[in-house]
Amino acid sequence: MFALTDADLRGRILGCGDGPASFNAEATREGVRVTSTDPLYGCSSREIAERVDETFDPMLEQTRRNAEEFVWTTFRSVDELGETRRAAMRAFLDDYDAGSAEDRYVEAALPALPFPDASFDLALCGHFLFLYSAHRDLDFHIRSIREMCRVAREVRIFPLLALGGAPSPFVEPCREALTGSGFEVTLDVVPYEFQRGGNRMMRVRPSAEP
Ligand SMILES: C[S@@+](CC[C@H](N)C(=O)[O-])C[C@H]1O[C@@H](n2cnc3c(N)ncnc32)[C@H](O)[C@@H]1O
Repeated sequence: MFALTDADLRGRILGCGDGPASFNAEATREGVRVTSTDPLYGCSSREIAERVDETFDPMLEQTRRNAEEFVWTTFRSVDELGETRRAAMRAFLDDYDAGSAEDRYVEAALPALPFPDASFDLALCGHFLFLYSAHRDLDFHIRSIREMCRVAREVRIFPLLALGGAPSPFVEPCREALTGSGFEVTLDVVPYEFQRGGNRMMRVRPSAEP
């Protein structure tokens, strides 16, 4: 999703809206320094497990109904998607209490992050910004990306599509706002595509120009 390189993985990484995903658990095992944030992390592991269980079957059912919106190569079927998601959530839940004690899971909601400036080399946001364009307005998106840029030297957001598979209407306005205020913004193709057409990320860095 983020075209991460070995060099990226040597840096300090922040995840925004990481939810019950297994990236932090898996990367930490490999020695990568990752901090995950999500408002969900105000909940206990039991509460998160209950919430995940409640939404799991409806999420799969919805994917089944809209199967043509997705590319079935990484996952060959809805069942395989379900198994992979369940395994990821289990890895997350197994790591959650220890990770919270180590401040690797931090309760935080964009557009505010509880970290000093330049605390991270890379901030990632997967399946939250742009995806929920119908639920969060342009101002929220711009403020969130600026906040991620405040705490990290580079920001990557994936995908650039909204729910339902249409391009997010906020990609271009965000690009304009950031480009006009000292950032370089590129839309880069990545190797992962699950939502059909969702194979690009936004990359935001301080502009090299003065
Ligand atoms: C669809 S999930 C994506 C989880 C994970 N990033 C992934 O790709 O599997 C969206 C996540 O955004 C989180 N979220 C909701 N409001 C948020 C906010 N204001 N700031 C950061 N995350 C938020 C939700 O709690 C949820 O975990």
